[in-house]
Amino acid sequence: MRAMSRTSSSEYETVPPEPAALVESLRAFGYELSTALADLADNSLFHHSRHITVHFHWAGENSAIALADDGDGMDERTLVNAMRLGSRNPRAPRDPGDFGRFGLGLKTASFSQCRRVTVFTKQHRKETLIRCWDLDHVAETGEWQLLRTSSALAARLAEKLADTKQGTVVIWEKLDRLTADTKTENDADEDAFLRRAEQVGDHFSAVFHRFMNGNRAVAFSLNGTAIQPWDPFLVDEAATQRLPLERLRFQGHVVEVEPFILPHLSKLDISAHRTAAGLRGWNAHQGFYIYRNRRLLVPGDWLGIKGWRQEEHYKLARIQVDLPNALDHEWEIDVTKSRARPPEKLRRELVRIGESTRSVAKRVYSHRGAKLVPAEGQERVFLWEQTAKHNQVSYRVNRDHPLVKQVRAACSDAPKFSALIRLIEETIPVPLITITDREKPDQTIGPFETSKESEILEVMRQVFASLRASGLSRREALLRLAHFEPFPRFPELLQTIQEEDEP
Ligand SMILES: Nc1ncnc2c1ncn2[C@@H]1O[C@H](COP(=O)(O)OP(=O)(O)O)[C@@H](O)[C@H]1O
Ligand SMILES: [Mg+2]
Repeated sequence: MRAMSRTSSSEYETVPPEPAALVESLRAFGYELSTALADLADNSLFHHSRHITVHFHWAGENSAIALADDGDGMDERTLVNAMRLGSRNPRAPRDPGDFGRFGLGLKTASFSQCRRVTVFTKQHRKETLIRCWDLDHVAETGEWQLLRTSSALAARLAEKLADTKQGTVVIWEKLDRLTADTKTENDADEDAFLRRAEQVGDHFSAVFHRFMNGNRAVAFSLNGTAIQPWDPFLVDEAATQRLPLERLRFQGHVVEVEPFILPHLSKLDISAHRTAAGLRGWNAHQGFYIYRNRRLLVPGDWLGIKGWRQEEHYKLARIQVDLPNALDHEWEIDVTKSRARPPEKLRRELVRIGESTRSVAKRVYSHRGAKLVPAEGQERVFLWEQTAKHNQVSYRVNRDHPLVKQVRAACSDAPKFSALIRLIEETIPVPLITITDREKPDQTIGPFETSKESEILEVMRQVFASLRASGLSRREALLRLAHFEPFPRFPELLQTIQEEDEP
């Protein structure tokens, strides 16, 4: 066997990557603006920052984003290494508090959003150091020349560092993906830029909420305003239930799992209810919340467990899962930290815990006052009606259906609306439906049988609104709604409509 070090130069060629091409592929790691900035904040947190500020500076195509901290700062060697692509081996053991992993975060997160990243850093009682990657410069020179200078704007944005004892400021310029073709004076462009800033604030509220409380709290701010924590478990609400915390052992490490059942809608005030809905709504925020070192990676997901969908009646179930970072590999945490898959052995435990949590959540969700079931003997209202004339059977749309009535009233072209309804009535493919039904009886489905609950709810809401618009009181409208086919088949969703509308 031949030792590698002995390999003679005739046996290999050195093929360094082509800078311009490599740089472009580094830009496609799947980061979004929010996840990219959160990656910078991870570095700040790990290096003992107590204040983390994000600043969106608007100047059209010359806009910039700065993230500043008051953490340890870096010495020159560390800084240069930090800017080096692939500065760490992801398999090397890490400090248990560390959020990084691939030694790529700072670079890939930055390049996903901008073509120039400048880092200003200062250790206690030391000089401020500057290093800058400008991808245009790298492409032009064909060399990995790390600049020691910064633009005037970057210097201005980092000015504040001079007044702090220590810290680091990362500045992104040439935000080609965010501000391409924008104009400084264009208000709509500026609004869009500031909306993106707000989204970043919302993302930070969720991702870092556990750092924002307690006596060692870290203060986060965005363009001068403090970012408030978003607590998915509503721990301050009296009606929140905690199920027993479990410590699962896995490969010598401990994974902590604590299920929460959020309060029934009727036990929350409107603003608490709205806040708890989060960015994606109640339904989408049910499930496991995966944290690594208290940092939120997955904000509610059933982790692909077979047959477990996010459904209305499980929406009160939120389960906190705490991972140590030593298990990154087993959990398949990707570089953007927005995805995590549990290893098989833990999966079984999570299914067990998830099952009991879901059943309690469902009970709380369904335990309510009088159920809205249609009273016996009261007539049900259908959209389609069968009529028989001269022995001929035909199907008609019920013109008295409130949704039909309201749409007709709101329609500026009433004759066209009537023509459309007539056309639908005259051309329903009855023969085709009959044949299919006869040939494949198991393949015809009932109303909304394969629809998502959210979809049914939306239709219900519209019909309910029509009933209200026709002058009925809340109570009357709800009772009527419960008689409209096919809604009586979904008593729990009727209940949801009732609660949504509660004054
Ligand atoms: N805000 C910061 N404060 C101090 N050091 C930092 C900061 N950001 C980055 N660093 C240094 O840069 C290195 C590289 O960061 P990064 O590219 O995010 O990779 P990783 O976090 O996986 O190590 C870090 O390991 C750290 O030494
Ligand atoms: Mg990092």
